[in-house]
Amino acid sequence: MSYIEWDESYSVHNPEIDKQHKEWIAIYNNIHDVMIGTKSSSLNEITTNSLNEMYDYARKHFQFEENYMSQLNYPNLIEHRRIHRDFENLIYTYIREIKTGKTILNTSLIKVIRNWLVEHILTEDKKYTTFAQVDSSLDT
Ligand SMILES: [Fe+2]
Ligand SMILES: [Fe+2]
Repeated sequence: MSYIEWDESYSVHNPEIDKQHKEWIAIYNNIHDVMIGTKSSSLNEITTNSLNEMYDYARKHFQFEENYMSQLNYPNLIEHRRIHRDFENLIYTYIREIKTGKTILNTSLIKVIRNWLVEHILTEDKKYTTFAQVDSSLDT
């Protein structure tokens, strides 16, 4: 388990979306810190807050990104939307399960979030960059 460090390989060539991805990663890194540094008695409350922050930010970011993809006439928008909803459901489920005591935020759960985030930016989000490039070349 480790931090995510944003570098150019994560860029989707849209400054606003890159900024949002950095913020999203910062929220993840904060969850990572909370996990490592907190006593177990207060862990659930703090992790729930962190996961709520992740959930709210992801929703905000996804909305922005979906509008952007729609402007690009991105052909895989419906599929990409579905993947975004999957992430929201995943985080929502974790929040519910922690609240009801069914689970705790542990290293394997953090790993799932980390892998999802990295994979999503590097694989799914990267796919629309091709359309952004075509789109901007049409403008010139
Ligand atoms: Fe996305
Ligand atoms: Fe994204």
